[in-house]
Amino acid sequence: MVNVAILGFGTVGSGVADVLTRNSAVIDQRVDGLVRLKYILDVRDFPDSPYKDLFVKDFSVIENDPEVDVVVETIGGAKVALDFTQRALKAGKSVVSSNKELVATHGYDLLQLAKEHGVSYLFEASVGGGIPILRPLTACLAANELDQITGILNGTTNYILTRMIKAGLSFDQALKEAQANGYAEQDPTADVDGHDACRKICILAALAFGQHVYPDQVPTQGIRGVTLADVAYADSCGYKIKLLGRAIREPEGKVCAFVAPHLVSCENPLAGVEDVFNAIAVTGNAVGDVMFYGRGAGKLPTASAVVADVIDIAKDTKRDHHNQWGPGAPDLVVSPDGLTSRWYVRAQTTMDQARLACGEIQPLARAGAPAGEAAFLTAPMTEPQLMDRLAGMEVGSRFRVL
Ligand code: HSE
Repeated sequence: MVNVAILGFGTVGSGVADVLTRNSAVIDQRVDGLVRLKYILDVRDFPDSPYKDLFVKDFSVIENDPEVDVVVETIGGAKVALDFTQRALKAGKSVVSSNKELVATHGYDLLQLAKEHGVSYLFEASVGGGIPILRPLTACLAANELDQITGILNGTTNYILTRMIKAGLSFDQALKEAQANGYAEQDPTADVDGHDACRKICILAALAFGQHVYPDQVPTQGIRGVTLADVAYADSCGYKIKLLGRAIREPEGKVCAFVAPHLVSCENPLAGVEDVFNAIAVTGNAVGDVMFYGRGAGKLPTASAVVADVIDIAKDTKRDHHNQWGPGAPDLVVSPDGLTSRWYVRAQTTMDQARLACGEIQPLARAGAPAGEAAFLTAPMTEPQLMDRLAGMEVGSRFRVL
């Protein structure tokens, strides 16, 4: 018998309880044993919940119960969740988490702690919600030197951009709609400013390249600056604007990682990823390009990934389930300044001046463009080279072209 405790009965935590209960027959069959939900920790009362008898308010009940094998941390944030995760691991319990903030900021330390105590720390649900990505990266693609990862990692921003592209809503209107539909939080900062995608690309980069990449090492730009004018210009040349998290293997063990809006060619499958869906493209030196697609958020999709980790542990509580990576370093992550790409630029200028400044350009047009506005695609160059060329020009937007 494997006993599970869930910390936090929010969207994901309640989904985990539902999946464990609803799918108990198939789970028990796959584990060749019994997986039972023993406790749910939450400060709130849920008198009408079907799990009402399982609720506790004091974490030490779980911590001190030798029957609890797996603690599922779905609290979120990096404060209480960190304390409870550390205490659970020290008490010899494996921890399964959907908490990308905690993994991105403290993953190395928590993995070390799990190793010291002979237990596991698994977090498949922290990236891409229900999409299988972390285990495929470390298991199915283990034979590869991974070269790069490019992902649409945030469902809220992908929804907002999709509504701007398909319904012509402004950023503010699309954000309001996302909030009304329950996709975006009332405080949407973590999503729209790219922090959520940043945490996820940190986790992917750590697993792919073997060293902890910290969020404050990763230049991050969100989507607040994307306008309907940019959407229209992108559309005119066969591109969609997408918020991408990118991690690229660099020489001498370095990593280039960043988050920014990009123009993605409609021929690239990432351009077809719409609404709250996520997708992660991975390039390995043996496999070539592979792509993972699915629901990046939501109660049951995320619970699907959490419970898969629980099952993995329950199948063999003695097996070494460790994800592994090194501690990282202040000079591990290099700036994307050295990365050459074509650029989309919208500026207050004329096409002649743009050509004079940037050389060979592809001019873009849109209906209703005001006088004095010019938009164009450049030849491949680095960002510092682009900035040199745009010096003195009043630039509205500039995004990399993938
Ligand atoms: N806020 C996140 C998103 C939830 O919109 O993708 C899943 O991590």
